[in-house]
Amino acid sequence: MLKLQRADLFREAAYVGGEWSTGNGHTWVPVHNPATGAQLGRVPSLTRANVEEAIASANAAFAQYRQWTGKARGAVLLKWASLMLEHKNDLAQIMTAEQGKPLREAQGEIDYAVSFLEWFGEEAKRVYGDTIPAPRGNQRITVIRQPVGVCAAITPWNFPSGMVTRKVAPALAAGCTVVLKPAPQTPFSALALCVLAEEAGLPKGALSVVTGDAVEIGAALIESETVRKLSFTGSTAVGKKLMAACAGTVKKVSLELGGNAPFIVFDDANLDQAVQGAIASKFRNAGQTCVCANRFLVQAGIHDAFVERLTQAVREMRMGHGTEDGVTLGPLIDDAALRKVERLVADARSKGASVHAGGERHPAGPSFYAPTVLTDVTDTMSITQEEIFGPVVAVTRFTDEAEALTLANATRYGLAAYFYTSDLNRSIRVTEALDFGIVGVNEGAISTEVAPFGGVKESGFGKEGSRYGIDEYSERKYVCLGNVA
Ligand code: SIN
Repeated sequence: MLKLQRADLFREAAYVGGEWSTGNGHTWVPVHNPATGAQLGRVPSLTRANVEEAIASANAAFAQYRQWTGKARGAVLLKWASLMLEHKNDLAQIMTAEQGKPLREAQGEIDYAVSFLEWFGEEAKRVYGDTIPAPRGNQRITVIRQPVGVCAAITPWNFPSGMVTRKVAPALAAGCTVVLKPAPQTPFSALALCVLAEEAGLPKGALSVVTGDAVEIGAALIESETVRKLSFTGSTAVGKKLMAACAGTVKKVSLELGGNAPFIVFDDANLDQAVQGAIASKFRNAGQTCVCANRFLVQAGIHDAFVERLTQAVREMRMGHGTEDGVTLGPLIDDAALRKVERLVADARSKGASVHAGGERHPAGPSFYAPTVLTDVTDTMSITQEEIFGPVVAVTRFTDEAEALTLANATRYGLAAYFYTSDLNRSIRVTEALDFGIVGVNEGAISTEVAPFGGVKESGFGKEGSRYGIDEYSERKYVCLGNVA
């Protein structure tokens, strides 16, 4: 049972055009607590007509909202941020209940989510244009920035609040309006944010949250000529389908897709820092982030010491329900996620990997997988080719820098990469040689609102957060003023 100070933050309804809606009133989607498997609540399964209503109200709101000054838009975002901080504990409890992450991590995610509202609340005032020296004396050339229009945002279950504000805040700051489809596993965090957005003064229709069947809602959003932009975070497989479908109406698209992050430890690394960075990168959200280290590449001279220290740290982790004191690791999101991790570990073991810790389910509940350390991992094992999305460290030994780089880049993904070294020249060489959009050098925690988050290759395109994030939601219009006397 959730014990909230503000019970009204927990809504079993969608939010369409500024009104709480139960759709047709009799088709619902259950939402479960992954730590217990018990049903937490339900949200309505909206019809295509409901989604079209949300799009129409976003379009009507856009006509007015685009006229607001950047300062006025920013003020709403900043107010929304302060309301989120005021209700941080309630929001974190809702998140832990639907997502499973430990309460402290959920509180950290609320801070992370707030940071995007604050950042883009400020940036709303800085959507600058340009003046360009014209080739003819009687011309003046300027570039103005204007909002893209109605945007669709599709967010994942691993960061139920952080990914919402990372998309919605720059869109609203730029003057766009948004129809958001949260992941079916974690709709309640997004809905709670709407309660606070409304209180912060966001006009009706500027943000809708639609719940229900992913395929039907996705089709309504993608096929709409009114929706001019799609921002999606999720799997590469779904991202490819959405990208192809967006061609039908030539939408602007940003995709934050899967990753297969290498985490390289060179012989000259600081061992303490490397172990600490490995824990931060691998075990955040029980290994369920796109930027989690997926492949640990460890040089022969430091390999055994690194594995021993990391295994010791992993054995000290406390797995359990996110609301229990001292818990550092929660469950996987559902049974399918658990079975995927089991399959990858079984495949690695059958091909010669050794288990130093874990390697099996954890008794804390139905979707818990014990934190695991595997060594003797090779690139013939599926665990090095697929995104694990679970608390498993898979270690491969290498001999020299060239081999490490070849292994690291041997993936179709290109989101994040990490490496540890104390050699300055190597740090520059390796940074430049890694084919990834984000590189952590002697650092395992790279996510922040101030830096551009996004991948290359099949990890997608477009940047989220930072001063570049708002570019995804604005168009540059070239204006040529002629015959100036
Ligand atoms: C993600 O997993 O999609 C986002 C992770 C982050 O923002 O750090």
